[in-house]
Amino acid sequence: MFGKRGNDDGNRFKPEFRQPAPTPAAAPAAAGSADTAVLARPAAAPQPNAPAAQPARRAVEAPPLAPEQKRGREKSETYYDTKSQVFSALIDTIDLSQLAKLDPESAREEIRDIVNDIIAIKNFAMSISEQEELLEDICNDVLGYGPLEPLLARDDIADIMVNGSKNVYIEVNGKVEQTSIRFRDNQQLLNICQRIVSQVGRRVDESSPICDARLPDGSRVNVIAPPLAIDGTALTIRKFKKDKLTLDQLVKFGAISPQGAEVLKIIGRVRCNIVISGGTGSGKTTLLNCLTNYIDREERVITCEDSAELQLQQPHVVRLETRPPNLEGEGEVTMRDLVKNCLRMRPERIIVGEVRGPEVFDLLQAMNTGHDGSMGTIHSNSPRECLNRIESMIAMGGYSLPQKTVREIVVGSIDVIIQAARLRDGSRRITHITEVIGMEGDVIITQDIVLYNIKGEDANGRLLGEHVSTGIGRPHFWDRARYYGEEQRLATALEAMEKRAD
Ligand SMILES: Nc1ncnc2c1ncn2[C@@H]1O[C@H](COP(=O)(O)OP(=O)(O)O)[C@@H](O)[C@H]1O
Ligand SMILES: [Mg+2]
Repeated sequence: MFGKRGNDDGNRFKPEFRQPAPTPAAAPAAAGSADTAVLARPAAAPQPNAPAAQPARRAVEAPPLAPEQKRGREKSETYYDTKSQVFSALIDTIDLSQLAKLDPESAREEIRDIVNDIIAIKNFAMSISEQEELLEDICNDVLGYGPLEPLLARDDIADIMVNGSKNVYIEVNGKVEQTSIRFRDNQQLLNICQRIVSQVGRRVDESSPICDARLPDGSRVNVIAPPLAIDGTALTIRKFKKDKLTLDQLVKFGAISPQGAEVLKIIGRVRCNIVISGGTGSGKTTLLNCLTNYIDREERVITCEDSAELQLQQPHVVRLETRPPNLEGEGEVTMRDLVKNCLRMRPERIIVGEVRGPEVFDLLQAMNTGHDGSMGTIHSNSPRECLNRIESMIAMGGYSLPQKTVREIVVGSIDVIIQAARLRDGSRRITHITEVIGMEGDVIITQDIVLYNIKGEDANGRLLGEHVSTGIGRPHFWDRARYYGEEQRLATALEAMEKRAD
């Protein structure tokens, strides 16, 4: 009925495929118990049934910081030196495993009393405010995520990147900047990483130095420890934003023009199959989340994600999440398992947070077998590269289909590729809205509908540009738009963009 999928119904290629090559067994994690890191040797032997030290991050309320303090407090060597002395004295005095049993408030009180005593006994010269700061730092170390706490408490940070104990970078407003935050040493950093990953039942150490995890607030965490990370543990946190950006906000930021946003809304509404392509942190997930806003409330939507980030507003949504293997290397549930299972759940649309591997084939199958309006994101730098990535991901699944057949499947499934990019000035833009329209010989033909043209840069190095229509008055999904009664809106948006470009 609408374009590609409808027209070639009679002779649509039904792919036959060989049994996929067995996926290599997940590398079994090194044997051993998931020893929860305690920051230092407890003064008394831990009780056999003592619960593992539970980080009490949420309960640790950092006092509000003045703006200039927020930017990263410069602390002197003396401060770190004093702190390290107080800290050693503290862990000589108290039993951390017992402390962990207390509720966070009592634990804090306990630490406060002892730290004050230590400062008095050792005669450290400190002002009240310095003392408060020291206490805060130490509580964060013992009860929370140490020096990361002030960064985790900030809402304006997109990513936290820790490269060894002395270099901590953050991304704010699209710009990466170094902070003055540092860890006492590599061991403290590794202990905090261990504490984070042990919450999801994993561990990180020399024998299993790579680990993905998640903070209780939903932030995604990756840890890679020495010896793989040569200069100390590298910890990367993609912070979870509770309030996801809306399409209107993206317009305000200039990520897309108002008319471009209108086109996106229509694409989402009229059930085009969409792939959002972009590099890491280019705004793919954000955009996917925005598009889901335009799904009708009556539709049954199933989402598959590695870690649940999407926040759909519709009532009829089933959210699924993959699972990494446990310490014994068992129990993994892959994205592919989820997408396949989805198909048995009578979805109207399937949304895959991030398509990385052979699950792409199952998603494409779903797209061209009645689950119009399915969506996913793919890591690639242009719509063309995105198509190539899809082909190679299909090959990863062990299917041995002729290249042309693979391309026919791609063309038969995907309607629109939306390209997101983080430009060199740190701004995030939608750079292409591109349709996949058909094949010419062996080649997939695409057509750009909207492009972002960079015109130059201003005095502050910010790029100037605008979103322009390429003059396609009637995109390939026109019939689809008409079916949903959106053709007039579509025509108006495209026309307005053309006028702007003149
Ligand atoms: N257009 C935008 N303008 C400003 N910030 C954005 C924009 N799009 C996304 N972000 C922010 O950038 C970060 C990364 O976005 P995300 O969608 O998770 O990227 P990806 O999925 O491509 O890795 C998030 O913190 C998000 O809020
Ligand atoms: Mg993402």
